[in-house]
Amino acid sequence: MKYFIGNWKMFGSPKSINILKKINLFYTRDKNRKKYRIIFTPPYTLLQNYSNYFKNKKISIGSQNCYQKDKFSSNTGAISSYMIKSVGAKYTLVGHSDNRIEGDTDLMLKKKVSYAIKNNLRVVFCIGENKTEKKNKKTFQVLKKQLTNVLEKKFYNNIIVAYEPVWSIGTGEIPSSQNLKETTIYIKNILKNLFRSKTPPVIYGGSVDGLSVQSFKEVKEIDGFLVGGASKSSKKFIDIIKNYYR
Ligand code: PGA
Repeated sequence: MKYFIGNWKMFGSPKSINILKKINLFYTRDKNRKKYRIIFTPPYTLLQNYSNYFKNKKISIGSQNCYQKDKFSSNTGAISSYMIKSVGAKYTLVGHSDNRIEGDTDLMLKKKVSYAIKNNLRVVFCIGENKTEKKNKKTFQVLKKQLTNVLEKKFYNNIIVAYEPVWSIGTGEIPSSQNLKETTIYIKNILKNLFRSKTPPVIYGGSVDGLSVQSFKEVKEIDGFLVGGASKSSKKFIDIIKNYYR
């Protein structure tokens, strides 16, 4: 099974649902539809509305983040996995580099993943090295730490790992297919150790669009994509899927 996940970040209003309706229509008619899943993570403000609309449809809805406490608390502005689940969402991203940069630590991420899974959300756990770490050849070291500090064996059934090199997010710079292949195999080996020989899906994120996907699709180890910029247009998002299966 492949995954095509659209992460809207700080984008979208109630009427932006039209973008997802077009993608859903394509999805229901696509001859390859059984080979993949589509998940979208709109901002919190749209979760209830979109989850209701897509309840019995093909696209699944998730949140972009969740708070590191269970159920209810006195943290102003915070939203817990319990609250996300209660409005019908099925997934959540955890550990996106945008949130790591703003202070998410491994300890906080571990709590977020635990509470999300406890509340029956499936977690898309994001990891990735930044430009300096890449330059200093620290990529594998960083990825290993990000994975082993947070993931536990019991999370296995509810995790998708998203490898997103920070230097590639929103920049148009992408890893070569050879490079991506090596890194994905490395990540899968770490996961195999963590999860006692099973590996959850590992997807790639960072400047994925209809063009770049043509080089990523050579990497058979990749189980799908986390798409930022190109997920805000139905045409661009559909082009990624079309070109992937072409
Ligand atoms: P991008 O973002 O596709 O715009 O590079 C990816 C992400 O941040 O998840």
